[in-house]
Amino acid sequence: MTHTTVTITGAGGQIGYALLFRIAAGDMLGFDRPLRLRLLEIPSGIRAAEGAALELQDCAFPLLHGVEVTDDPRVAFEGCDIGMLVGARPRGPGMERADLLAANAGIFGPQGAAIAATAAPDVRAVVVGNPANTNALIAAAAADGVPDDRFSALTRLDHNRAVGQLSAVLDAPVEWIRDVAIWGNHSATQFPDVSHATLAGRPLSRVLAERMGSVGDALAWLDEVFIPRVSGRGAEIIQVRGSSSVASAANAAIEHVRDEVHGTPGGWTSAAIVSRGEYGVPEGLVCSFPVASDGTGYRVVEGLTIDERARSRIDASVAELIDERDAVRALGFA
Ligand code: NAI
Repeated sequence: MTHTTVTITGAGGQIGYALLFRIAAGDMLGFDRPLRLRLLEIPSGIRAAEGAALELQDCAFPLLHGVEVTDDPRVAFEGCDIGMLVGARPRGPGMERADLLAANAGIFGPQGAAIAATAAPDVRAVVVGNPANTNALIAAAAADGVPDDRFSALTRLDHNRAVGQLSAVLDAPVEWIRDVAIWGNHSATQFPDVSHATLAGRPLSRVLAERMGSVGDALAWLDEVFIPRVSGRGAEIIQVRGSSSVASAANAAIEHVRDEVHGTPGGWTSAAIVSRGEYGVPEGLVCSFPVASDGTGYRVVEGLTIDERARSRIDASVAELIDERDAVRALGFA
């Protein structure tokens, strides 16, 4: 029987621990797809990854046909079908943005090169580790010969956060809410957009205006409550939980891959993918868009109307992505 090889970097970290068991149980690829896990860590994280591998064995998951732990990217990505690039360098005290970008370029460049050298021809890789969009850009640029549309970055957590907020304020089941979009960077500048969203088939902005009293009140709520809440949710979680988002981030990464490989029939989700110039986003940037997949990879949902309010928010986040790209180019990456 053929296996899917899933490589997880930073597997000894928090998100890694929240990912491994769900993937091995079949939550990501389906309950009929046997898989092999390759866990990549740096030497300081190897023992934690080895411990997780022992626990995976103790779960006796029927779909799990092997786990390998390594600190060598070339071994980790050997035959890799799906890469989940979670391990990254966090911002240390006093670290400037350029240092952070350079430190991460030193991780994602070699991993991109290892993917090009040893992964399966149809490899797909999602970058979770921050700054996720620019790390994906670096990995794609370093992966000589691998089409850049095989690389994406995770904004599904932001998407799910937006849906969660709407579900709570409208007191409506999550599955009634469709076609929310996250545009731009996975950062505080992101634009969570509900202008095309529907609630049980009705324009969601109309439902919001009815609930809130007027169109003006609904717009004020979106600008003053909804958008800051979604884009600042990571900080809110840290403040309340005393630790960063872990289970929700792992869940989003699983849903990102699941929908990419199984498709998004009749709807869309959000993911950061390489721009081909859609909606005026400069070609080559890894930008979050509304995306759909037919099972062969995410594509931007085209033809949506972008009003002035949305335009200026998208432009602001794209400007940040351009800055990050220029900074890594100046350092000789991408
Ligand atoms: P963590 O610090 O618990 O784990 C990171 C792991 O990566 C560590 O075990 C570390 O040893 C490992 N690592 C570092 N460099 C590596 C390398 N070159 N190769 C392989 N492994 C390496 O962090 P956590 O909580 O698991 O978060 C991981 C990343 O995910 C962070 O960058 C975080 O900011 C990001 N994140 C992204 C989200 C998104 O929506 N895109 C949401 C939440 C977190």
